[in-house]
Amino acid sequence: MASQAGKQTKLEVSSLAGRLDRLLTMEMARVTEAAAVAAARMRGQGDEMAADRAAVDAMRAELNHLPIDGTVVIGEGERDEAPMLFIGEKVGNKNGPMVDIALDPLEGTTICAKNLPDSLAVVAIAEAGGLLNAPDVYMEKIAIGPGAPPGTVDLQRSPAENLAALAKARGVKVKDLSACILDRPRHARLIEEVRATGAAIRLIGDGDVAGVIHTTNSANTGIDIYMGIGGAPEGVLAAAALRCTGGQMQGRLILDTPEKVARAERMGISDPDRIYELEEMAAGDVMFAATGVTDGGLLAGIKFRDGELVTHTVAMRSSTGTVRDIRARHQVTTKFI
Ligand code: FBP
Repeated sequence: MASQAGKQTKLEVSSLAGRLDRLLTMEMARVTEAAAVAAARMRGQGDEMAADRAAVDAMRAELNHLPIDGTVVIGEGERDEAPMLFIGEKVGNKNGPMVDIALDPLEGTTICAKNLPDSLAVVAIAEAGGLLNAPDVYMEKIAIGPGAPPGTVDLQRSPAENLAALAKARGVKVKDLSACILDRPRHARLIEEVRATGAAIRLIGDGDVAGVIHTTNSANTGIDIYMGIGGAPEGVLAAAALRCTGGQMQGRLILDTPEKVARAERMGISDPDRIYELEEMAAGDVMFAATGVTDGGLLAGIKFRDGELVTHTVAMRSSTGTVRDIRARHQVTTKFI
């Protein structure tokens, strides 16, 4: 029986790669557009929960139109704490392949509530079993964009060593590099160590999915490396994006209480100290889409204009490495309004 089930998954996986992912990538853009538009109505209102709720409702409705038999593996929380898009929830119209879904209908709830840069609606889809089932704990992360030799950065090395290795790989001086770090007291030592190397730092208030993705386009974003501790779900989402663009990333869950270790064990994680490589967080064929809610370095936010609204989305897939930059004008008569 077990081998038959394995065979079945293999067949479905190959159909995902060969047939559906081209269509799905575009459909995913519709999913993130809907969530981003709903959240954008709440920009600057100071109400994180209302903005998140609006995004969740809109994303769930759109996801259920997708021709997939999807399971949410990174979602709004565990079943008893999230009414919708909880981990384990089945989504899609079931007329398609079995897939894993990671989502964050509103990444950067505080950013949206304050109307600051880089709040996003985000979805990733992978073959069933392709995404790390990470509990909602913190994760230590390090990420760089494409082009450097494998193993250029490593969580087991010091920040200074990683910066030196990246500078060498790029043929620049360490002081020419810029690191993106979440502005949190827990990063005081990391910030001190990076500053001591002479590298520049961009401290961000929230939104480390965007922080990681910024490393993939350093020429425009000015960010060469992401370092520090953020959410594990955001780590898996960022890994999915990096699988499509190329780049390097490692993540280590912070399981610093017996309760967190037990939660991780229930999700199949037996080694609490394990360092996950990019491909272990997002394996096989992966697709990723994000739409800007607020204006940011990655994407423009939603624009409401007379008679139409404008969305800005990035949609990509690992099988081809294509990154689509999609600006869409939607008429006021559509479901968005
Ligand atoms: P939310 O969208 O859930 O508010 O997350 C925003 C965020 O900044 C993430 O991008 C990041 O991974 C995480 O919070 C960091 O957590 P904390 O705010 O607890 O340091």
